[in-house]
Amino acid sequence: MSDATSSPIGVFDSGIGGLTVVAEIMRQLPSEEIVYFGDTARLPYGPKSNETVTQFAIQDAEFLLGHGVKTIVVACNTASSVAMDALESHCQIPVIGVIEPGALAAVSSTLSGKVGVIGTEGTIASGAYRRAISRLDRDIEVVETSCPLFVPLAEEGWTDREVTLVIAHEYLTPLRDAAVDVVVLGCTHYPILKHTIAQVFGPSVRLIDSAEETAKEVADGLAGLELLRDDGSPPEHRFFVSDVPHRFREQAERFLGAPLPVVSVVTVDETTRSGA
Ligand code: DGL
Repeated sequence: MSDATSSPIGVFDSGIGGLTVVAEIMRQLPSEEIVYFGDTARLPYGPKSNETVTQFAIQDAEFLLGHGVKTIVVACNTASSVAMDALESHCQIPVIGVIEPGALAAVSSTLSGKVGVIGTEGTIASGAYRRAISRLDRDIEVVETSCPLFVPLAEEGWTDREVTLVIAHEYLTPLRDAAVDVVVLGCTHYPILKHTIAQVFGPSVRLIDSAEETAKEVADGLAGLELLRDDGSPPEHRFFVSDVPHRFREQAERFLGAPLPVVSVVTVDETTRSGA
């Protein structure tokens, strides 16, 4: 067994949305230790330029590398859409984004050959899902739309409100009318709104949760490299954010689906300022 097996998995996102991926990694790989960084001070990444998101993503990865992680999971669709090449050349360890796993699951699930993709403005404008799906099967038709209000609604916890359903209808009716049979939830915030999104599409449309698919790819990747942790002791997870917004703990626990352990507040140059 090499030393790297006991190293943690690094996960970052623009904020707390990536905790949906953490929850899945914990479920699928309960022995693994996780170091999470949420760049809450600079959220949202969705409307920002590719250059800015790439610069932030490299800084987020640097922070995780400083904690000796064995792999980095980019638990943010926006960063995965525009910064994967830069991250892969910057990091000397495997970097796993959320686009390819989501695209693969969509291609394997569609029967009609029409796939819907929803995400932030940055993710949709990048065309990353369209390219990833087309690389797997060029005959699949992709219908995409950005849903910018879903991020604040998920953070607000308005999962079952009437207003959320109204907004979901507004964004998603064109996709439903395009007769897609699979929709990729191309933003790590969206699984929180899955129930409402499903109400718009009805039971015949399958929703692909990129968190679930990404955790599967992490599990397969680590197993393939013989890097799965196997030392028997209970894992210790560490959570870092760059700011603690109002009601942070309540929001973060909703995304994680479990009580949040101690969270440290850091700047991206790794200087710990306080505990939360
Ligand atoms: N979690 C981010 C994503 O998956 C969305 C939030 C943001 O705009 O920063 O794209």
